[in-house]
Amino acid sequence: MRLIHCLVASVSLLARICGAAPSVSVVSNTQLDAKGIFFVSFDGVVNVNSFQLSAVLAYQSFQYAAWYTSTGMAVLGRRTLPSGAWSTLTLPHNLSTIDSHNVISLGVSPADGKIHVALDCHSTQMFYTVSEANLATSGNSWVASRFGAITTTLGTLNIGTVITYPQFVVTPNNNLQFVFRSGVSGNGATQLAEYSAGTWKNVGSWASATGTYTAPSGATSTLRNLYIHGFTYHGNRAYVTGTWREQNGAVSCSSAGLTNHDTVYFYSDDLGRTWFNSAGAQIATSGTNPVNVNTPGIIIDPLNADHGLMNQESQAVDSTGLIHAIISYVPGRFTQCVTNYETDRPAFARPFHVYRSANGTFTKVEIPFAIQSVGRSQIVIDAKDNVYVILPFLKIVTASKASGWTDWTLAYDGTATGLNVFGEITLDRARISSGLVSVLYQQTSSGTTPSPVKLFDFTLNG
Ligand SMILES: *[C@@H]1O[C@H](CO)[C@@H](O)[C@H](O)[C@H]1NC(C)=O
Ligand SMILES: *[C@@H]1O[C@H](CO)[C@@H](O)[C@H](O)[C@H]1NC(C)=O
Repeated sequence: MRLIHCLVASVSLLARICGAAPSVSVVSNTQLDAKGIFFVSFDGVVNVNSFQLSAVLAYQSFQYAAWYTSTGMAVLGRRTLPSGAWSTLTLPHNLSTIDSHNVISLGVSPADGKIHVALDCHSTQMFYTVSEANLATSGNSWVASRFGAITTTLGTLNIGTVITYPQFVVTPNNNLQFVFRSGVSGNGATQLAEYSAGTWKNVGSWASATGTYTAPSGATSTLRNLYIHGFTYHGNRAYVTGTWREQNGAVSCSSAGLTNHDTVYFYSDDLGRTWFNSAGAQIATSGTNPVNVNTPGIIIDPLNADHGLMNQESQAVDSTGLIHAIISYVPGRFTQCVTNYETDRPAFARPFHVYRSANGTFTKVEIPFAIQSVGRSQIVIDAKDNVYVILPFLKIVTASKASGWTDWTLAYDGTATGLNVFGEITLDRARISSGLVSVLYQQTSSGTTPSPVKLFDFTLNG
């Protein structure tokens, strides 16, 4: 009977009845700026990076987006969901340097409806501004004068002058947190601050540069930083996966490789104060005893620094509270030594789906689609726990929960449809629960010729 149904069903029914991988439906492809600033640095563009939380952000009736226009000025957009026209305002701040790290990140504090903006840093001072109260919900005119002066502190909190990767995260008790790195690549700490009752306060560092890493070759490194795939709340739990970046290049087989190694996982059930490994053992306390490379029981997928393992890819939590991450690297069947990650990754790197089962086991499955890029992918999980991975160039591949996430299928190919995406994309994680994904991307260009910044919306059909 089931078979007969499959044979006679329409294509969309087929997916549901036969349990095939989910499809997606394109809703819109909207130009936000005909002339976004364009330059390639560190293999990326400044308007669209995998680690942005968030460059595009839905909050109640509105959606917000941020980018730099061709002059370098920071622009904020707003529309009424689901499909209102975009309005823009220009903040009184110009990109300070030609560096793709210097992204703009947006957050909303639910308690007072303020829109927070952090931007323009790479191991430097960070710039910050915050809107008038309730701008996120009032729909008041979209003008720059509704934002306060741009500061290099987070409100009254001094976070130092060596900052990278600003990310805003809403907590289960409706406060806003701020996750960032202090220090530099290979010698940095992940930090947490919290906005509550209108004031930013320091929580402290939760992963440090300390400890000793010994590579299979015997080479050692005594400093590093944790690169995170995300900082994701589900229920009361904050989930973190990531990879370590060593300072000492000798831990990698090649000086043009990446010193990233291992995939780690740990979580917090008290808003990022204390931390536990997958086995449930307490391993760290923010501020006084952060996680480090020698913390026991945090490696969920061991890998040495010879495979061009990417940092800051992506993660999501499924409806049952289990963590899923996408990682990517050059598998050993191609080489045991990536000698140049900028050429070896586009040629050979593959994405992997790494996920935890209820019994605590982690499974890693190679997704049978090449990345064809240096850059990163984004994972999305729908309400039925089907998985969607948005690869560079807006190629969307999907796998159904019913198959145990094994039936990987190409659901959309942005190259075939001529989107002309530069590479990596970033997306609106706040909108996914409504069954919609908004992807921010920039069209490719050459040199420093500006190119369109666009928003691509699709529905999850799982
Ligand atoms: C703004 O920043 C861009 C990129 O750093 C730079 O090329 C441009 O000269 C700056 N413009 C102004 C007005 O400072
Ligand atoms: C844990 O659960 C997974 C998924 O159900 C299963 O494949 C695996 O065999 C289990 N492992 C152990 C050690 O029970």
